Amino acid sequence: MTRPRNDNFLRALLKEPTDYTPLWLMRQAGRYLPEYCETRKRAGSFLQLCKNPALACEVTLQPLSRYNLDAAILFSDILTVPDAMGLGLTFTEGEGPKFERPLREEWAIRDLSAPDPYDHLRYVMDGICEIRRALGNSVPLIGFAGSPYTLACYMIEGAASSDYRRVKTMIYTRPDLMHHILSVTADAVVGYLNAQIESGVQAVMIFDTWGGGLSAAAYREFSLHYMQRIVAGLLRQRDGERVPSIVFTKGGGCWLEAIADIGCDAVGIDWTLDIGEARRRVGHKVSLQGNLDPAVLCASSDIIAAETRRILDSYGPGNTGHVFNLGHGIAQWTPPEHVTALVETVHEYSRALRRKN
Ligand code: CP3
Repeated sequence: MTRPRNDNFLRALLKEPTDYTPLWLMRQAGRYLPEYCETRKRAGSFLQLCKNPALACEVTLQPLSRYNLDAAILFSDILTVPDAMGLGLTFTEGEGPKFERPLREEWAIRDLSAPDPYDHLRYVMDGICEIRRALGNSVPLIGFAGSPYTLACYMIEGAASSDYRRVKTMIYTRPDLMHHILSVTADAVVGYLNAQIESGVQAVMIFDTWGGGLSAAAYREFSLHYMQRIVAGLLRQRDGERVPSIVFTKGGGCWLEAIADIGCDAVGIDWTLDIGEARRRVGHKVSLQGNLDPAVLCASSDIIAAETRRILDSYGPGNTGHVFNLGHGIAQWTPPEHVTALVETVHEYSRALRRKN
């Protein structure tokens, strides 16, 4: 297998030199793009869009035809895994995700099992094959999954929550049940990500959106431990090419060194951290991905360029180890033309910095 023509994203993750800092954006295919909204309308709903490989492929490619991005990310959602475990996922307009059968009873928790990714999540694997065909040899395709802890938050609460009261109560009163959920979910995620790798994704990312709300001790025991198990279970390469992994805990900056230690190739950071300091803290152990505050994209192009340069300057000299991204998903009210200013600044300014150093 050969690498894509533009392999800068993979090179930066693997600490190989690049001519400029590569970038992609979390949620790069989403509601800020009118063409995405149009395709979603045609699909009928967000979930039907995820479950239709041809339409999922179409929206995956939409941001790439507008912007000079260095990677594509599979269009799907982290909650397809608990859906495949039988919890019954729905998305209601304006309300977000909901499970019909959240984990409330011990028998239901004991009954959980990891789904066969080639059966219940076949549509994801079909989508990946279709996207790889459509991308040709242009840019790498990223696959992803939720962290067991973040998935468990939705599986137990049944929807997004402001305080994760049920989850926290289970951690402190029935840690055995919590560990059972996390263990089965970790097995599910390993199987799911390895099936994605076999189907053609060239890097994988684990999204831990809610781990940052835990105490330091609980984070290690209930979130980080299971992400470490996942990273250890991943296929390291496919067709002779390394498949790098990225771990992102939103709000996890205080545990950066511990995250960098679990065997992943890169750590995603949100905007609360100074990326130069983060780099000094992790040394050469991992690459870093991040970390512009998505809110900056609502400002003028001058401010977007200045804030982008601030991050590239802070990361500092050298020609590898940084994948530019936002610190969290792009906001739905982002004017699409503002993204052009970001992409151009990252590419041009990082090239200029390399010439200077
Ligand atoms: O990055 C990408 O472009 C790939 C696609 C992607 C989506 N969700 C599409 C999506 C990815 C990687 C995700 C991950 C995801 N999903 C996370 C982790 C990252 C994060 O954002 O913290 C989480 C927590 C979810 C669960 C989820 N999906 C929620 C809470 C919501 C509702 C909130 C919202 O923004 O509406 C979703 C819906 C969702 N997932 C949308 C998209 C484009 C919007 C749905 C729509 O079109 O109406």
